[in-house]
Amino acid sequence: MTNQEQLIVITGGAGGIGMACAKVFKGQSLIITDYSQEMVDHSVATLIEAGYKAKGFACDITDEADVAALRDFVAEQGVMKSLVHTAGVSGTVQDLNKVYTIDLVGTELLIEAFYELAGPGSSAVLFASMMAHVVPANEQYDVALANPQKPDSFASVSRFVGGSSDTMYNFAKRGVLLLSQKHADQWGAKGARIVTISPGVIDTPMGLKAAEEHPERMEKIKQATPLKRNGSPEEVADVVYFLASDAARFITATDILVDGGVIHNIKKMG
Ligand SMILES: NC(=O)c1ccc[n+]([C@@H]2O[C@H](COP(=O)([O-])OP(=O)(O)OC[C@H]3O[C@@H](n4cnc5c(N)ncnc54)[C@H](O)[C@@H]3O)[C@@H](O)[C@H]2O)c1
Repeated sequence: MTNQEQLIVITGGAGGIGMACAKVFKGQSLIITDYSQEMVDHSVATLIEAGYKAKGFACDITDEADVAALRDFVAEQGVMKSLVHTAGVSGTVQDLNKVYTIDLVGTELLIEAFYELAGPGSSAVLFASMMAHVVPANEQYDVALANPQKPDSFASVSRFVGGSSDTMYNFAKRGVLLLSQKHADQWGAKGARIVTISPGVIDTPMGLKAAEEHPERMEKIKQATPLKRNGSPEEVADVVYFLASDAARFITATDILVDGGVIHNIKKMG
């Protein structure tokens, strides 16, 4: 008999938002994955100590063999209910290729591998960013962003980002929005959904690092936020919980902004 346990798979499970996402699924079976075994072990131990059902599997999401091994591990453990994909890096890594490969190529590798596990009522919830929304639609780079595994894709997008890893981050996250639209028909044919979530400034180590590097800009953004504050990882996790649940059963191929309303004002700032 196959194992029918319903699983929530969380990438970036050792990260600020990933850990908060794990915590909203109390009572459900969690598969926590992150880059290093040490990080995974630490997160799983923390969750188990707090009464969660969690198992771990280390995976570099940019490595196709690792992603396939993760998929196979999940298949052995039960039935995928949701893939919550939070793993990512910000522009602070100062490496355009790393940002593109982790945030965009890694995302498509996961979408393709987990499509094999998708079934009626399952979903993928992918992390984009509100900054994806400052990148306008443009045929010249959108084709490359929607096809990040093509050999010339990185070079095509690089021509538009002026050497800035922060701008590359915004483009890569726009690519994540395009990937959800691109794969939605295939997932839908299996009764499965694929959505993105775009957080604003969230107080996690990643958010705080960005704040340290651009303190004035981050303060300006806070003042321009209708709710006049940053978000918390828990506020993002609550929306993930909804998107992964059957309450969101008619939501697919779209993006949900969780940014305190700030992106419209950022766009006006230019
Ligand atoms: N914090 C924010 O303000 C904010 C805002 C908008 C969007 N986001 C997005 O939310 C997601 C989570 O952000 P966070 O603040 O929790 O960041 P975080 O840095 O706390 O967590 C990210 C996790 O991803 C993992 N990771 C990085 N590269 C990996 C790889 N190659 N393979 C596997 N795992 C890898 C890291 O080890 C880390 O645990 C990211 O996709 C980020 O772009 C965050």
